[in-house]
Amino acid sequence: MIQPYDLRCEYLPSPVLGLDVIPRFSWKLQGNGKKQSRFRIIVSNKFEDILLGQGNVWDYSADSEENINIEYSGKELQRYTGYYWRVKVWDENGDESEWSEPAYFEVGPLGDWRAKWITMKNPRTFKDPAHKNELYHAIYLRKEFVIKRNVKKARVYVSGLGVYELRINGKKVGDSVLDPAQTDYLKVALYSTYDITPFLNHGKNAVGVILGNGRHIKDYGYDKPKLFFQCLIEYENGEIDFVLSDESWKATHGPLKENSFFYGEHYDATEEERINGWDLPDFNDGEWGFVEVVDGPPLKAQLMPPIRACHTFKPQKMWSPRSGIYVFDFGQNISGWVRFRVSGPRGTIVKVRYGEILNRDGTVNTKNLRAARSIDEYTLKGGGTEVYEPRFTYHGFRYAEIEGYPGIPSPEDIEAVFVHTDVEKSGDFICSNEIFNKIHQCVVYSQLANLMGIPTDCPQRDERMGWLGDAQLTAEEAIFNFNMAAFYSKYLMDIKLSQREDGSLSDVVPPYWKRYPADPAWATAYATLLWYMYFFYGDKRVLEEHYESLKKYIDFLEKNSRDLILEDVGQHGDWCPPGDRFPKRTPITLTSTWYFYHDVLILSKIAKVLGNEEEHLKYSKLAEEIREAFNSKFLRKAIDHEGKERWYYEGLRLSSKDRMPTSQTANVLPLWLEMAPPAVKEKVFETLVNLVEIDSDAHFDTGVVGTRYILEVLSDNGRIDLAFKMLGQEDYPSFGYMIRHGATTLWERWEKLENKGMNSHNHVMFGSVDTWFYKYLLGIQPKKEKWKEIHLKPYFSREITFAKGWITTPRGTLKVAWEREGKRIRVHLEVPVSTLVTFFVPSLCSVVEPDDLSEKKVILFEAGVHTLSLEEVQGGND
Ligand code: BGC
Repeated sequence: MIQPYDLRCEYLPSPVLGLDVIPRFSWKLQGNGKKQSRFRIIVSNKFEDILLGQGNVWDYSADSEENINIEYSGKELQRYTGYYWRVKVWDENGDESEWSEPAYFEVGPLGDWRAKWITMKNPRTFKDPAHKNELYHAIYLRKEFVIKRNVKKARVYVSGLGVYELRINGKKVGDSVLDPAQTDYLKVALYSTYDITPFLNHGKNAVGVILGNGRHIKDYGYDKPKLFFQCLIEYENGEIDFVLSDESWKATHGPLKENSFFYGEHYDATEEERINGWDLPDFNDGEWGFVEVVDGPPLKAQLMPPIRACHTFKPQKMWSPRSGIYVFDFGQNISGWVRFRVSGPRGTIVKVRYGEILNRDGTVNTKNLRAARSIDEYTLKGGGTEVYEPRFTYHGFRYAEIEGYPGIPSPEDIEAVFVHTDVEKSGDFICSNEIFNKIHQCVVYSQLANLMGIPTDCPQRDERMGWLGDAQLTAEEAIFNFNMAAFYSKYLMDIKLSQREDGSLSDVVPPYWKRYPADPAWATAYATLLWYMYFFYGDKRVLEEHYESLKKYIDFLEKNSRDLILEDVGQHGDWCPPGDRFPKRTPITLTSTWYFYHDVLILSKIAKVLGNEEEHLKYSKLAEEIREAFNSKFLRKAIDHEGKERWYYEGLRLSSKDRMPTSQTANVLPLWLEMAPPAVKEKVFETLVNLVEIDSDAHFDTGVVGTRYILEVLSDNGRIDLAFKMLGQEDYPSFGYMIRHGATTLWERWEKLENKGMNSHNHVMFGSVDTWFYKYLLGIQPKKEKWKEIHLKPYFSREITFAKGWITTPRGTLKVAWEREGKRIRVHLEVPVSTLVTFFVPSLCSVVEPDDLSEKKVILFEAGVHTLSLEEVQGGND
């Protein structure tokens, strides 16, 4: 029997509130059956029905293995209405499961927007050195309302640009911070939905909102912070009421003053008295001014995990480099802020400066933050213990320098708060090689620190932008480590909204910096994320929603090419190879044209999935033409000094003596997509191996693009040993080199740089290599969409004694572990329901247990727990 669990609506766990799309349902499966053969979903607006197994708006069964994204098609769903749903399944023998636990979703206003966008008239401004235009002090808004009847349920639909905190009757609502997720605020703002029933009083109530700048600033084309608040109150007698943001609200300034992502924030607690009780009823707001009503963008539900304070770190070390200054080392580079406890005289100012690295004298080195001031300032009110943490800023840091603290701070009173989009963990990996484990940890931390409602490049300097390149390169890694489905669905919307009439996309999305047209190696995020959403999460809806826009983008590339070669659109290419920011030997034209091919291939596959055979053929043909153009432009033959024929893809000539101008990346890319004619493919691979093994002594000589693919190309073509060696290096340039120099997150550059300029110590863009641990060392290679079929090809390296890991796929959790003892290798495997794993026995191994498999070279595993013992026959494994 199998049993459904972990029910999801639009990828989110129950309850899902404020829905504004037709819901899709998913569940996972556990138990000892092999696969699901049938399912039944019931949906009802009455809980009693659901308990009785009845769906009064939808009752749907199908003979199907599908458990992912089943789209609702029952009676029309009503705005503001809640629905319960349940599912049951049958296994391959027709055995029926129990009903799942009930889950709940609720529909939002569906366009019934009654509130108005409001803001303060003439708020105070300040200058942030990172921005041209002025920013605003935090704005406090309030409104009182009365409840005369018994409340059945109350919901708030709220958005505050750039960032807000919502408070009702003195308490913060929800546990998210820095809400809403960033978008292009001219096009859309995301609203969150809260159940505020438990916050309300019979009688008088008050709502208070603090607004901060976030990214809703003039430099990026926006203006003052503003609020949209719509509260629906449903009474027990069935009547409804609304509390709405409108001209009757009042506004003022308060203790939270200057604030911005780059600046930090200033909180003056001496000002608390003046507005004490501002978020409670019966407060005298006579001094406050009335708000003004302003225009605002359309609203969409924020159907993704919010940003939260996810984890805290205690200081590992503390020292005082100068009198009155204390530095704390939290042992891990993160995104977030410091929370501290303090008591001292009123008016004392405590300042916290943040940084990733140290100066020689033990002070915090902030040079690489560029114009980001990154200081939080707290003015004590005095008279007891005070706890402070900022609200409307965040920093990238491992070290914090505290100045002005009354007395000597105790490490007990200080902690670092790790703040990021709270995506669920969906995979992990560990093995006997410490460098590998540390690389994996660095990637995971860099990835989390760079999820802030959008995927960012870095969390510390005056940038923190949604660079599409960084996003696309690490998307597969992120998907292996975290459940990214909801996050990427939203980001795909951001990408689409950034598209210009001519089809071009911006390097940076949301386009706070308008960088059109994007480098194709960056803009490929559009095609790449779409394909991953389908391949890994089975999401066909996003393909439908974005198909026309993706076509428009491809048309743009085609129009801007010369004979299908893209010479004028790229500007970064194989960004940040060793020794430089710009690609040295890999022509940008080559990376741009390669991504053109890559994206057209994806578009042709999407056309096929959507059943558009004609366009599938059209784009397959276009892809083929690009391949030919690419080969005739770049594929070259040379005769080396030994008179041997060599084939390679041509890179930039660095000197006239350069007989074979090429680079690792120039060969890696066409090999990854099998573009070379079969007759010369091996020769090209030989060139690559020579470049890696001989010219670079098994080191990376790649920027972010080449690094993404090189380990896979080496591994797939019989040189996994070389990939293993490169990844395990500890001297420059390598990941081990970063780690040996104290990295706890990945650097932006292969070099150890600590001065002004481009040298973030928390960039995830090189983190693409993390998938190699899952896909090659553990050998988990998804072969069919939705993890339906998986090839298992572990690399039983002799230098490793064990490797193990897990991935939660949309069907359940897949676990793989292997362990070596001399020539014996034991493999442990747990396969989720409805999944087929094909295990490939390495050619130099044979199965010894179970003995009925001893002749096998390929073994099929269905759902369940399996163990195998293998023995190396001779010499090692292939
Ligand atoms: C960012 C990179 C980004 C690059 C593009 C940098 O400033 O930090 O990660 O992709 O610019 O050139």
